[in-house]
Amino acid sequence: MANRNAIVLAAGKGTRMKSKLYKVLHQVCGKTMVEHVVNQLSKANIDNIVTVVGFGADTVKQTLGSRTSFALQQQQLGTGHAVMQTKDLLGDAEGETLVVSGDTPLFTAETFNHLFEYHEQRHAAATILTSVAPDPTGYGRIVRNDVGIVERIVEQKDATKEEQAIKEINTGVYCFDNAKLFEALKKINNDNAQGEYYLTDVIAILKQQGEVVTAYRDNDFNETMGVNDRVALARANKIMQARINKHLMQQGVSMIDPSTTYIDADVKIGQDTVIEGGVVIKGNTTIGSDCFIGSGSRIIDTTIHDGVKVISSTLESSEMHTGSDIGPNSHLRPNAEIGKNVHIGNFCEVKKAYIGDGTKVGHLTYIGNATLGKNINVGCGVVFVNYDGSKKHHTNVGDHAFIGSNSNLVAPVNIAADSFIAAGSTITDSTERFDMAIARQRQTNKPNYAKKLPW
Ligand code: UD1
Ligand code: CA
Repeated sequence: MANRNAIVLAAGKGTRMKSKLYKVLHQVCGKTMVEHVVNQLSKANIDNIVTVVGFGADTVKQTLGSRTSFALQQQQLGTGHAVMQTKDLLGDAEGETLVVSGDTPLFTAETFNHLFEYHEQRHAAATILTSVAPDPTGYGRIVRNDVGIVERIVEQKDATKEEQAIKEINTGVYCFDNAKLFEALKKINNDNAQGEYYLTDVIAILKQQGEVVTAYRDNDFNETMGVNDRVALARANKIMQARINKHLMQQGVSMIDPSTTYIDADVKIGQDTVIEGGVVIKGNTTIGSDCFIGSGSRIIDTTIHDGVKVISSTLESSEMHTGSDIGPNSHLRPNAEIGKNVHIGNFCEVKKAYIGDGTKVGHLTYIGNATLGKNINVGCGVVFVNYDGSKKHHTNVGDHAFIGSNSNLVAPVNIAADSFIAAGSTITDSTERFDMAIARQRQTNKPNYAKKLPW
């Protein structure tokens, strides 16, 4: 096998995105477009990947890290000019070079491999990856001669009416004989509608030199789409989402309505987990098997173990151990760790707290900066008062304690194991084992006094 190189074009600003963020940094299913491209290239057997950066160079470099080397394009003078910037790194390289844009996030490693194979088998100087677009507007068109041989690529803005009617488009992915690519690039100019040095002009130049130029058609237009604006970005997300969901379902995850289930590219979900519609699962999230994730849940960067039930709740940077449940309408904020078989009911918020196995927190409760032991009962409307206006303080609650409803635990405070807090108490002092603490005004009943009241 010949040496395989790849160039990713990612220096453009992406004017049509109308965004502060440079185009290739926009995300599709939780990952930047350029990262999707580089990840797939890394999976194909490519020896050397070079990314051309310009706008947002530092951020793009940071995003991609060591998976690729970088060439800087100071001024964005066109895709041909962008490829020329890799001359120092690739000009003398052996073998074949694949070129792909950073704004085509849906290509798979398989397609890249097929393109290389097709190109290598035909000993071509260039092979264009083409596809047939239902609406080719905006894409470069593949111009073939009478007998169907590729002649050149014409850009939308330079195309005649007849050329605009061509539905076979340039996907922006090509395979070149590396030496011939760099030779031909010397001959392109910017004499066109956009005043840019087009990479696409290399095709006609190679043809004129009598080189073999072929086209390999990708029958799935969806895979080849380029993202130039927000409408296309939404479409790319939809296509990628369908792909992710299909894969998860094939692995044994049930989805009630995959068309409204939004799961990021790297999320892992175990077998026999059921996910209802209207669920969002993002980032570095792992969900075990036999879980149930109910509609309206939003789960970000969270680890969920087996057999967990999440109903219409928001979970961020947290962990739920086996057999626990939460919701409806509760919120785990960063660093909440929920033990095994813990029950968190409705309208509860937990932040930076550990809750031990078998503990129950049924209703309307805030737990922040706390460590709770096992088999505790936290009544309704309990507040862990963790903030004094300038600092956060910690609360400990021992195993099998009972926190009566509507209590305030004013931190720092230790509630000992097996101690009992009477309902409505505001607790400022720590308790000992088996204490009952009651911290509220005694009730006074005034006989017949209600008769004197105006109601
Ligand atoms: C390009 C192709 C078009 C093809 C389409 C497929 C050219 C001239 N046209 O058009 O035939 O149908 O892709 O999606 O190549 N870039 C740079 N430096 C530059 C200019 C662009 O790095 O100076 C990068 C951009 O960041 C982008 C990629 O190259 O990732 C493609 O540029 P873009 O302006 O999006 O080209 P298209 O108009 O889509
Ligand atoms: Ca594009």
